[in-house]
Amino acid sequence: MFEQLQLITADPILSLMAACRADPDARKVDLGVGVYRDDHGETPVPAAVRAAEAALIAQQRTKTYVGPAGNPGFNAEMEKLVFGAAHPVLASGRLKSMQTPGGCGALRLGAELIRQAAPATVVHVSTPTWANHVPLLSGSQLQLERYPYFDASTGGVQFAALLGALEKLPPAAVVLLHASCHNPTGADLAPDEWRAVLELVKRRRLLPFIDMAYQGLGEGLEADAFAIRLFAAELPEMLCAVSCSKNFGLYRERTGALHVINSSAQAGDAALSQLVRLARGMWSMPPDHGAEIVRRILSDATQREAWAKELEAMRVRITSLRHELVRQLRAHCPQRDFSFIARQRGMFSFLGITTEQVRALRVQHHIYMTDDSRINIAGLRAENLEYFARAAAQVLAA
Ligand code: LMR
Repeated sequence: MFEQLQLITADPILSLMAACRADPDARKVDLGVGVYRDDHGETPVPAAVRAAEAALIAQQRTKTYVGPAGNPGFNAEMEKLVFGAAHPVLASGRLKSMQTPGGCGALRLGAELIRQAAPATVVHVSTPTWANHVPLLSGSQLQLERYPYFDASTGGVQFAALLGALEKLPPAAVVLLHASCHNPTGADLAPDEWRAVLELVKRRRLLPFIDMAYQGLGEGLEADAFAIRLFAAELPEMLCAVSCSKNFGLYRERTGALHVINSSAQAGDAALSQLVRLARGMWSMPPDHGAEIVRRILSDATQREAWAKELEAMRVRITSLRHELVRQLRAHCPQRDFSFIARQRGMFSFLGITTEQVRALRVQHHIYMTDDSRINIAGLRAENLEYFARAAAQVLAA
């Protein structure tokens, strides 16, 4: 049966991760896969996570099944974290939440629910979007289309073109939006732009599917959830896929949630019953370890504060790296304006260099980034910023 299978190219982000790991050169700079790194190049387990994990291991008496919707305490805490504890949607009965294997599981489960409800739905994703959005969403047999988003000439958002494209969509079209820290560009919408998108979504009766994988790493825990909270207050229906990989450092524990807002509590009960069946058919039940760690942290005021402080330190480090990188690039590549990097948010920026230049950086300088020149800012360190800027200057001048 398998003899006829064709060899296919590996996922661009994961193959880059493997190539960088295999490079023995001490100067290598890993700006590929989107994981947070500290100034030693490590991706640490936050102290709050280690403490919650130690308590969990000491106290857990059973590993019996939890259920397809996952850890109920985790789901309740995530609703508060994402929407805000006082948000009216929490008490409305219209919000239904499922714990999922990472944000990827949430995206896939959301896509499966959409397909269940309306198989001909088209999902519109930004140009560009995270590479894995495509297999995750189209794997549910939903058709994907693109809307304009990134403006390479400014490093910001082509807002008029974005609005113009959404304006043409038919009712019930799904629009996938990044809540904050847009992956791969780092270009986010401003609050007034979100308000304009909301007005359009309401008027055209579109269905937003918001992906939030970096809450706390852009402008802060509350500011990064601005769009979700704004939309949730005014729309009858929406979906949110949320990841705990980066902000809790739980990457390999596959911890995430899908939140679905429904037009009524009764519609919500039906949607939840479908979600449970869909999850049961895909992974049966999500892994509990990461979710129970998150539940413990978020439900304990002291632990939550300790975690929020660590997260804030990560965010501040990324922001200061952005400014330092712009300074170094200005010094070494004065002919080119990279100031947009300081205006962007989250872990990623597009450098805007050619694939040949990206490859030259990899081969000649052991600097790893995806072919489209996305860099993970958190992969830089005080000690290699200058090395990076000098290498970029050499490659740009060649
Ligand atoms: C990334 O964009 O690099 C991360 O979200 C990791 C991944 O799974 O692609």
